[in-house]
Amino acid sequence: MSTDVQSLLKSGVALTDAALERLLPSATTPPHSIHRAMRHSTFAGGKRLRPILCIEAARMIAGALPDGAVDLGCALEMVHTYSLIHDDLPALDNDDLRRGQPTCHVAFGEAIAILAGDALQTLAFQTIAALPAPPATVVAVLHDFALAIGTGVGPVPGSGLPGELPPGMIGGQVMDIEGEGHKPTAELVERIHRAKTGALITTSIVTGGLLGLGAKPAHNHTDVIARLRTFGEKAGLAFQIVDDILDMTQSSEQLGKTAGKDTATDKATWPAVYGIKQSKKDASELIADAFAALAPFGDSAAPLKALAQYLTDRTH
Ligand code: IPE
Ligand code: IPE
Ligand code: MG
Ligand code: MG
Ligand code: MG
Repeated sequence: MSTDVQSLLKSGVALTDAALERLLPSATTPPHSIHRAMRHSTFAGGKRLRPILCIEAARMIAGALPDGAVDLGCALEMVHTYSLIHDDLPALDNDDLRRGQPTCHVAFGEAIAILAGDALQTLAFQTIAALPAPPATVVAVLHDFALAIGTGVGPVPGSGLPGELPPGMIGGQVMDIEGEGHKPTAELVERIHRAKTGALITTSIVTGGLLGLGAKPAHNHTDVIARLRTFGEKAGLAFQIVDDILDMTQSSEQLGKTAGKDTATDKATWPAVYGIKQSKKDASELIADAFAALAPFGDSAAPLKALAQYLTDRTH
């Protein structure tokens, strides 16, 4: 079964944008500056890939779009947008263009940009806490989501004891910043990419699946979630490899963000280790592995597969 990815993206963007419009404070809500800043970055024209992956994972598992899937997708997009606002700050990547618009700190100043990122993250947790789902589902979603965006510490699932977990988004950003200016090893670049980008993409799919399962009788949950996680990890790594390739091969106009920045700042990227040709090959192989994880879902996996294919075929 072939799925028209363009119509999937279009309807996913429309669903997400309408819900974000409802969930974000209006520009006339005081204090005005921060709400304008949050809206400036959120509505600047992102692809909405994380919400769309979440929605399609939830739909595949539940058999129909479950209540709350779109709001959960919005929570993921809020955290993604916060991560972009902070990623662009002078202290991190120091970028002035994002989603085709001036970055948040350029438009609103650094203090309001930092706080707008913080507020988007807080609003994401508020949104998940209010999901129309059984309490056990909400807690499972919160747990996976928080682990994915943190630094990789906390109670180890199953033991309840503190320990080291795979680093999440913030851990990845730390390694990315500290890796600047050094020749990256293959091992380090993979660790950075899985953490700074792969973890949020993975939790988009896993939490969508958890929400979808919430509505179904307990049956084979562990296997279903493990397969979604493998799919997310493979597709998430491929996504960041492609982001690195696009930084080197596309124009700023095409990307809506400054092109060529990674080479200029000596970032730990996949092409810096492997070159462009091998990077493209690695991304395609990861997508093939991601597809394999979804084999037991048959035709119902067509939308998620089409999205994963789009992650590597995209030009911005
Ligand atoms: C860009 O993400 C930042 C990375 C994690 C590489 P996207 O390419 O999904 O950006 P938007 O949301 O479409 O702007
Ligand atoms: C950003 O990675 C990852 C996060 C925001 C967590 P990049 O720094 O490569 O993203 P772009 O290229 O600026 O969008
Ligand atoms: Mg960065
Ligand atoms: Mg950046
Ligand atoms: Mg990049």
